[in-house]
Amino acid sequence: MSKILVTGGTGYIGSHTVVELHNAGYTPVIIDNLSNSSLKILDQIEKIIGVKPEFHQFDLCEETLVTNFVKNNPDITGIIHFAASKAVGESVEKPLKYYRNNFFSLINILQAYNDKKINFVFSSSCTVYGEPDQLPVTESAPVKKATSPYGNTKQIAEEILEESANAYGNYNVIALRYFNPVGAHESALIGELPLGVPQNLLPFITQTAIGKREKLTVFGGDYDTPDGSCIRDYIHVVDLAKAHVAAIKLLEKGNPNGNYDVFNVGTGNGYSVLEAITAFENESGRKLNYTIGPRRGGDIIKVWGDVTKSTQQLGWTAQLGIDQMMSSAWAWEKYLQEQPIA
Ligand code: UD1
Repeated sequence: MSKILVTGGTGYIGSHTVVELHNAGYTPVIIDNLSNSSLKILDQIEKIIGVKPEFHQFDLCEETLVTNFVKNNPDITGIIHFAASKAVGESVEKPLKYYRNNFFSLINILQAYNDKKINFVFSSSCTVYGEPDQLPVTESAPVKKATSPYGNTKQIAEEILEESANAYGNYNVIALRYFNPVGAHESALIGELPLGVPQNLLPFITQTAIGKREKLTVFGGDYDTPDGSCIRDYIHVVDLAKAHVAAIKLLEKGNPNGNYDVFNVGTGNGYSVLEAITAFENESGRKLNYTIGPRRGGDIIKVWGDVTKSTQQLGWTAQLGIDQMMSSAWAWEKYLQEQPIA
């Protein structure tokens, strides 16, 4: 079966996608510089799928290394490109790190494939919609000015990919706009490994419940939403991983929409922060220590996706609900307590 290159394949979404590619009969090949992940993830993946995926450790910002890799691996037919810096707050403090890492890597890969047909799946984000005018938000909603360098790299990367796909004809691209990825593999052998204090809601919830953090602050309780807290479309990481496999399959078949396309990847359902906490408490059987605090600057009030296009044209729909998201995230946190993965 075809070889698919997964950049950032030891990361959170990357590792789950490696597993789902293998399950679908593909041979995943990983490139990762391990800047935000661990070599131990390869052993964890092996425990799930029975084989250790082929792994190459280098930085995709190094043009010669990328060119040589592509030259030496002519049998790769598709790329799923996760490798990128992704912390919104850090991107505001260190914009050049974000523009360098996220663009150099993308451009180096595209250039290395400039004379070959290649299927390319890009990790984009619902952050491109900003605060949407209409909900659920569809793929044709306007892209709003990014509020962080991280968000800007996603918007500009989409443009780079669309322009390159239109200009050169050899790149067949799908950008997946993720909503909020959460949860972990059902084996609890892989999951999210946040560096330092988690900025995202779910790892903060599970670390609080296990006692690593004293309490969770709900950022804002006075928004114009039914319970006053922000609303998001949380998507189970295993469903999200499967969306990448569906995207590769559509590209292999030939996407009738042309050589550049975008899809929302969410469940289509919005949950408030307080609803997410209740769902976690129900699944874990633990009461969470939390308080309602001030709003966090830059937060979107409410966003959830219209998934009609993904359902009809990508042939993919999320299967797992908020209960499985919470129980798997909790099982993973408990696993990490027993066997820390540094
Ligand atoms: C953020 C990024 C988004 C990125 C995504 C990756 C912003 C504006 N957006 O989304 O671009 O793709 O992470 O996962 O930063 N919350 C709390 N307390 C906490 C942590 C979070 O109440 O300690 C709330 C937030 O206010 C928000 C919700 O939980 O309402 C989800 O937050 P988070 O997990 O950080 O994701 P987003 O901000 O939606």
